[in-house]
Amino acid sequence: MSGRLPGTEAPLRVEPVSHLVGHIAVPGDKSVSHRAVLLAAIGEGETRISGFGRSDDTESTIRAVRELGVRVDEVDVDELVVHGVGLRGLEPPGRPIDCGNAGTLARLLAGMLAGQAGRRFELTGDASLSARPMRRVAEPLRRMGARVETEDGHLPMAIEGAALRGIEYELPVASAQVKSAILLAGLYADGVTTVVEPLPTRDHTELMLQAAGARVVRSARSVSVQPAERLRLGAVEVPGDVSSAAPFLVAATLLAGSELHVHGVGLNPRRTGLLDILDRMGARITAYNRRRIGGEPAGDLDVRHAELVSTDVGPDEVPLAVDELPLFALAAACAHGTSTLRGAAELRAKETDRIEAVVDGLRALGAHIRATRDGFRIRGVPARLRGGTVDSRGDHRIAMLGAVAGLVSREGVAIRGADAASVSFPGFFELLDSLRAASSAA
Ligand code: S3P
Repeated sequence: MSGRLPGTEAPLRVEPVSHLVGHIAVPGDKSVSHRAVLLAAIGEGETRISGFGRSDDTESTIRAVRELGVRVDEVDVDELVVHGVGLRGLEPPGRPIDCGNAGTLARLLAGMLAGQAGRRFELTGDASLSARPMRRVAEPLRRMGARVETEDGHLPMAIEGAALRGIEYELPVASAQVKSAILLAGLYADGVTTVVEPLPTRDHTELMLQAAGARVVRSARSVSVQPAERLRLGAVEVPGDVSSAAPFLVAATLLAGSELHVHGVGLNPRRTGLLDILDRMGARITAYNRRRIGGEPAGDLDVRHAELVSTDVGPDEVPLAVDELPLFALAAACAHGTSTLRGAAELRAKETDRIEAVVDGLRALGAHIRATRDGFRIRGVPARLRGGTVDSRGDHRIAMLGAVAGLVSREGVAIRGADAASVSFPGFFELLDSLRAASSAA
């Protein structure tokens, strides 16, 4: 097991900034990038992926498919050519496949491996991923006929592929990763596979499967996939990652005098929950140049500073903003009134317990926030946070939360384990620095 060791580097200081002005673009969407490589790997022929979001997590995906016998040419930093081996062409490497920190990789790949009849694979991950729940994928894959063993519901996970049967499965938790694992296994089943969702979650897998020629039928609360004979993607263009844009959107909203443009961002409505929440709080974020990038809704965003008011975020909104809820907490801490988040117990099963990490982190900077069983309660103060020290706990979203908090603070924030940002956004601090320099010159 490889392990990320949070806090072994000297803390990184993020000093306050008066305003943010300029134009930025963020790397390709992590969820879409993982899916593009994985589907291309089991596709026919070559798939050219452009706008690929290179990060520690997506590098784990490239490494994993290579281990499984798939050739991946890295044509450029953000451009790959994947030589698909076909649906049933994945070969066991004879040693465990290390998924690093990437939950999306571990869970989606499990679904694909379940269909490799007669072959046995093993998945491992770093310390954080090894603490995350895997029974949620193991159980439905077993029901489809695969032999799956976990270590008491966790990695390492051994998967023996089999002739699968189609099932109808009601997800106990709203999870796009689990939904995707079942749909991918469904490509190999003997009949229709249906996943019923308690709440809508991101639908990148469904969209990409359709683009690759799979027969996918969607209704309000369920998705069905037919067994497939072959997939062919051809080319995929990945839009910018709205989750990577989110720290900048929140910073510009909170800083008086800001005017920031973020270009080429994915605006799939199942990913833009934070924009809806901020809109309700009074933010001035406008989408323009709306278009499609690689079959996904996308556009450019114009963000101006705004005074925010409190809001309540309930369970329905959680899957649509799941990775951005730490940033919601920061926005709420700087808003007028008391905000709440409910129905977000899933945050406790992320790269770290994000309810505890957010509450401890923001409280140390002067915010009035307390944890509840399934969320938090925040009494906002419409002024700059004091500042202080935040520990990322090895979690990329918490490292970036600390950075935004530093920008909007009075005294700056020292981030322990800031390098965790590279899990989803390796150039995050460089982009922040160049935007700071451009803003002070503006
Ligand atoms: C993801 C789904 C979400 C999200 C994660 C990426 C995906 O996880 O938090 O960062 O790419 O499908 P869950 O499906 O576990 O909610």
